Amino acid sequence: MKSDDKKVLITGGVGFIASHLVDTLLDKHYYVIAYDNFDSYYSGKEENIRHNFKNPNFTLIKGDILDYETLRNVMKNIDVVFHLAAQPGVRYSFQNPVKTNNVNVSGTLNVLRAAKEENIKKVIFASSSSVYGSPKYMPVDEKHPTKPISIYGASKLAAENYCRIFSDKLGLPVIILRYHTVYGPRQRPDLAFFKWARQIFERKPITIYGNGTQTRDFTYIDDAINGTIKAASTASIEGEVFNIGGGSRISVNDVVNSLIRFIGINAEIVYESPKLGDVSDTRADISKAEEILGYTPKVNLEEGLKRFIKWFEKTKSRLD
Ligand SMILES: NC(=O)c1ccc[n+]([C@@H]2O[C@H](COP(=O)([O-])OP(=O)(O)OC[C@H]3O[C@@H](n4cnc5c(N)ncnc54)[C@H](O)[C@@H]3O)[C@@H](O)[C@H]2O)c1
Repeated sequence: MKSDDKKVLITGGVGFIASHLVDTLLDKHYYVIAYDNFDSYYSGKEENIRHNFKNPNFTLIKGDILDYETLRNVMKNIDVVFHLAAQPGVRYSFQNPVKTNNVNVSGTLNVLRAAKEENIKKVIFASSSSVYGSPKYMPVDEKHPTKPISIYGASKLAAENYCRIFSDKLGLPVIILRYHTVYGPRQRPDLAFFKWARQIFERKPITIYGNGTQTRDFTYIDDAINGTIKAASTASIEGEVFNIGGGSRISVNDVVNSLIRFIGINAEIVYESPKLGDVSDTRADISKAEEILGYTPKVNLEEGLKRFIKWFEKTKSRLD
């Protein structure tokens, strides 16, 4: 993203991660179009962007990435496309494989086709650590084999392949970011932190799937946004793939105990069988992003959890 590339389109722009990207780019005086179909997977997304409605640099378009003509029209005169619209959810993907494939694979193909037709200068694609599957070694670098173990992971990998082909063979500059469990304010309600926080506040037992020794690399939302903007601003990285992670890993048991401690309400933990598609561990090697993008995660888990809890406490009343 050069300094005169001021018009950006963000697909999925009212979602958890994308709405933070909208805020940050508006703060940096970009013209931002958020394109989102307000998918019914979860509700309440309006709250993520309502505060921008009066900003003259912000446009919200209710549209579907599966609607090619509308998507292409919206891309006219756009410099950079951040493609974050997706059907997320590992568990959901097993129950809804066709929808997951339609949105994540066909939808991404539409974004790429439209971007190519409209001569977009750069496309940033939000991929996922799920493309790796079970780690063969850790930390997992970008050269690690990709063998997803969920429909969601497979759909993201298929989309990545289209991105690579459009970039390598058709001259559309695309950069792929593999986010690792992003958390923070506006977190999706289907994600673990949200569910655990809700159970603690409602004084219900906390459910952990598996024995809790599985580990995760958690990325605070501000760091994920920072990495995303750095990828858009760095020259000559077309076709490259970058891990965007928090830079450390922690067991699910430790995270839950921290949540209990920071919220200050005691809670019983109930262990249930692991869920289909859940990987044992994630831990990103972020050295490529550090070296090439200048990406450095800044918010550690303790600080990130405290900020998340603060937001959750303010928000939970409207979620009841
Ligand atoms: N949250 C994470 O930890 C995480 C990790 C890895 C990758 N990702 C990826 O990052 C991106 C954003 O994830 P998120 O957690 O913010 O999810 P989210 O569900 O909050 O955001 C996705 C947005 O896409 C929109 N959308 C869905 N289908 C659409 C369609 N057909 N047309 C237009 N818009 C549509 C939804 O309404 C939603 O606002 C996704 O691509 C996701 O796969 C997220």
